[in-house]
Amino acid sequence: MDEQIIVGIDIGTTKVCTLVARVEADKTLRILGVGIEPSRGMKRGVIVDLKEASSSIAKSIQKAQRSSGYEVATALVSLAGSHVSSINSRGVVAITGGMVSQADVIRATESAQAVAIPHNREVIHVIQRGFTVDGQDSIYQPVGMHGYRLEVETHIITAAAASVENIRKCAEAAGIQIKQFVLNPLASGEVVLTKTERKLGVMVCDIGGGTTDLAIYIENNVWHTMVIAVGGNLITSDIAYGLRLSLEQSEEAKKRYGHALESEVSDQETFTLHAFGEVSPVQISRRELAYIIEARLEEIFQFVIQEIKRSGYDGLLPAGVVLTGGTSLLAGIHTLASEVLGLPVRVAQPDDLTGLVDQLFSPAYSTSVGLLYWAQIMSQASKFKKKKQSIPPLDWWDGIKNVAKRFLP
Ligand SMILES: Nc1ncnc2c1ncn2[C@@H]1O[C@H](COP(=O)(O)OP(=O)(O)OP(=O)(O)O)[C@@H](O)[C@H]1O
Ligand SMILES: [Mg+2]
Repeated sequence: MDEQIIVGIDIGTTKVCTLVARVEADKTLRILGVGIEPSRGMKRGVIVDLKEASSSIAKSIQKAQRSSGYEVATALVSLAGSHVSSINSRGVVAITGGMVSQADVIRATESAQAVAIPHNREVIHVIQRGFTVDGQDSIYQPVGMHGYRLEVETHIITAAAASVENIRKCAEAAGIQIKQFVLNPLASGEVVLTKTERKLGVMVCDIGGGTTDLAIYIENNVWHTMVIAVGGNLITSDIAYGLRLSLEQSEEAKKRYGHALESEVSDQETFTLHAFGEVSPVQISRRELAYIIEARLEEIFQFVIQEIKRSGYDGLLPAGVVLTGGTSLLAGIHTLASEVLGLPVRVAQPDDLTGLVDQLFSPAYSTSVGLLYWAQIMSQASKFKKKKQSIPPLDWWDGIKNVAKRFLP
């Protein structure tokens, strides 16, 4: 049986989502099992209570196993949190034999990693942004080219070893070996960005519950990544303070009546909820709610602008920003984002899936589905490695470049 089963576990601040999928003959994904579980023991993308997080992760995996009928042994797992950071680094090697081989590419990538990375950090991805052969730059696929000197530009993403180890521990307690961590925005980017956007220059902005995850793509490559430790949960707590509601009521009010633009809501519109300390239900102005949401969202987008400026790719994003993540479900968010960022904005979510997909057609599941895309491409890559071809087929390279996988095992 040559059935290919892949598994992704998205450990978010608000939910853990395990997906089990089969890669069909035409390379589309069929979702066989879904395990969605409220996330506990997580704050701003990192584990703060090992026992609680471990239990949420285990429950999510069990649900996915039950619904798919498959025993899960290995998985790709999402990673975020303010402990994630990235640097750009260049590697240079002499080409042996006058023609670039796969081994030369690996050596060049290894030499780019010879930067000082503290022992308390773990390398998550080494992304190849582009190659230069004998001074000729912007090379997309150097294997097979003639030359004597190979240079590679890499984007190296690292994370705090302790945070990574905590996630590993939780997964192992649930019987899962983590094949690879994938940074949240790189998983989401795979799902929501079009080829044209990635070629032109675009940023994916996944606003979840605890983090806002950014990745900038230019010329089909990942150029910059960042995780900001703010998200939709902050909006909920602002509402709780501002309107004197419980967190549960604030969450409900945000989802049911929330709007990202105060000016778009009439001051006549009201809704009723039971507020703290009130015996009878109170009327709340929808405009007041929108005022609170807009203020916090504007601040989040200000952080995003700062990050775009810090990356140095300001002005290089003609395709603008693609918003995703649960918070992007807020009415009017794309208009506010576009106003604050001064860029074209659209909201996107997974599509093109078959199987148990009803819940997954939502921006909240972009990272979860993106992990499956990564798993699919990584398994193609390992099949190729097994065949030991000296020059990989072009579609393999496209896949690898698109997913910007961590190059070395
Ligand atoms: N309809 C909605 N309107 C507004 N906000 C929403 C809506 N649905 C979900 N959210 C918000 O989206 C957030 C959860 O998004 P998501 O599921 O993408 O987060 P996560 O992946 O668990 O967390 P993170 O990636 O930040 O660790 C919560 O703050 C939730 O309140
Ligand atoms: Mg998320």
